[in-house]
Amino acid sequence: MGDDDVELEARLAEQDVFEPPSAFAEQANVADEAIYEEFEENWPDCWTGAADLLQWDREYDTVLDDSNPPFYEWFTGGELNASANCLDRHLDDRGDEAAIEWIGEPVDEDDRTYTYAELHREVNEFAAALRDLGVGADDVVTLYMPMVPELPIAMLACARIGAPHSVVFAGFSAEALATRMNAADSEYLVTCDGYYRRGDPLDHLRKANEGLDAVEHPVSDVVVVDRLGPNGDDFGHDLGEGQHDYDDLVAAHAGADVEPVARDAEDMLFLMYTSGTTGQPKGVKHTTGGYLAWAAWTSQAVLDIEPEDTYFCSADIGWITGHSYIVYGPLALGTTTMMYEGTPDHPDRDRLWQIVEEYEATQLYTAPTAIRAFMKWGTEYPDRHDLSSLRLLGTVGEPINPRAWKWYYRHIGNEECPIVDTWWQTETGGMMVTTLPGIKSMKPGSAGPPLPGVDVQIVDTNGDEVEAGRAGYLTVQKPWPGMLRTLYDNDERYVEEYWAEYSDTDSDDPDDWVYFPEDGAKIDEDGYITVLGRVDDVINVSGHRLGTMEIESAIVGVEGVAEAAVVGGDHPVKGEAVYAYVITEDGYDGDDEMRDRIVAGVEDAIGPIARPQQVIFTPELPKTRSGKIMRRLLEDIANGDALGDTSTLRNPEIVEEIRASVQD
Ligand code: PRX
Repeated sequence: MGDDDVELEARLAEQDVFEPPSAFAEQANVADEAIYEEFEENWPDCWTGAADLLQWDREYDTVLDDSNPPFYEWFTGGELNASANCLDRHLDDRGDEAAIEWIGEPVDEDDRTYTYAELHREVNEFAAALRDLGVGADDVVTLYMPMVPELPIAMLACARIGAPHSVVFAGFSAEALATRMNAADSEYLVTCDGYYRRGDPLDHLRKANEGLDAVEHPVSDVVVVDRLGPNGDDFGHDLGEGQHDYDDLVAAHAGADVEPVARDAEDMLFLMYTSGTTGQPKGVKHTTGGYLAWAAWTSQAVLDIEPEDTYFCSADIGWITGHSYIVYGPLALGTTTMMYEGTPDHPDRDRLWQIVEEYEATQLYTAPTAIRAFMKWGTEYPDRHDLSSLRLLGTVGEPINPRAWKWYYRHIGNEECPIVDTWWQTETGGMMVTTLPGIKSMKPGSAGPPLPGVDVQIVDTNGDEVEAGRAGYLTVQKPWPGMLRTLYDNDERYVEEYWAEYSDTDSDDPDDWVYFPEDGAKIDEDGYITVLGRVDDVINVSGHRLGTMEIESAIVGVEGVAEAAVVGGDHPVKGEAVYAYVITEDGYDGDDEMRDRIVAGVEDAIGPIARPQQVIFTPELPKTRSGKIMRRLLEDIANGDALGDTSTLRNPEIVEEIRASVQD
């Protein structure tokens, strides 16, 4: 580093507040601070502007129907089709422009551009194929696919015929796939033969087939995309009965024209399973009108997307970020959205920067975990490339520490791009708390104020607002269009999980209902919110939500295990890592063989993302007199922190014993 650099780094390290760069502010989609007041005064009608970003087949009658809280309905009476909104209406102006730039992991080998016209054509063909297979409106189609273009094509094809999709992240295990297909009674699966990971073809169909074997109801059809071509031959898969080759199906429906099915605003667009505090994942239901309006409006207001942009979100479509901010939001706005199949370190650690340069990406939306990894790798990788096409940077999924924020700001954004640190969840459908990038100052480490029209309060256990600077619980006091409508087939659990904590559940008055996302947070005197993390038994590994119960039940399923407790411990790159405390049936030491079986058990039940960083064998777990496991102490041990209060424990002596075995 030269002297100037040292000086600059020192200045950045001390700076707590950053103003929106003026060149950005001058062109921002939202440029007037008055929006906050206007939305507050005009709530809920302020959301007609979001609905106006869409094309409606039938105008809605009511913006918000709040007569039966917490079962809110938005844009009721309206009808629309999400695929028509993402494709058909752009054909005149943007037909020859790129809708999707897909970048395969092997460099320059098989990148593909889909113009809006091409994407529209293939979505129609695949929609016709699905319909011919018997998929009808409201049949849930499971999509177990990696980052291949056929994934968004399948999503839009489902949307076109009114069939909700349920995308299962390709990194999830066969068992996780089966659990989700069973829970959704899904009789159709679209999957693929494999994909590339760090240079090697990976056999995905084997996992899909194993998962299918564990589905409890008949699965009528399976469609398999051939991603690997001859490189997949070694896996030796033949398509079985009821399995169809994607290309054959599309070819057989060449030129098909499928009339988009008009869907009620409140009809389900998709289901997305996410981890909760029980072993059973929650099927979050999103609707067609409110969700799409939310995804489009936030894409425009926060990510500042314009049709002419080439926008890059490095998330996986298997998570909500990819649904809202690779597929639905960007395509609803008619922009070019990029998809990258591989990892950021293949073939070298500059891969993302090479992609940004080659495609002249205008925005980059990624996770703090990725930024911390880039930071660790060093500036030489971004320095190899011209990143000046970037206009805005974003982060999502977990808190970003100020050091990583400043690194991103300086070394990727060259101090010319605002950063939006966006807090939201699978359940919220889209962003809730973040700065509007052309207007608001940025405070590294703090997501920012709630978006206009979003009513967030930080409260104590009684539901009363806490003072600035004090930690409390994040709550949302008013409904919003992108919100989940319920948990699939489980209205009761929906109320219990998200509303019961701070609401008067006997009341019909929407003012008595408060949404609780189960995050801790604090607010400063300017109304900026710093999210402190989950307050339930959910941990956040690399921005991905994992239920400790899900991991525990996988571990307890391993032969020879009597009991297990899983907690999150701090991790310098991933944010949190999985620590598993395990009691064996014979009471003491497990060995390496058992440790391997436990790790394999977790990978089989959930997937490699849930792999424990450490498995700690212990004769007992610290428990209160009423038998409750004191997880906080286990977290302290994992983090090497001073231990919290042990006086309420039935077996305080065990804590030191466990601590000694972790240090070993
Ligand atoms: O704890 C919060 C954390 O991620 C959780 C939501 O996870 P998921 O539903 O998988 O969605 C991730 C992508 C939206 C939240 O409850 N989280 C998300 N964004 C942030 C965050 N924590 C701090 N800062 C954020 N910007």
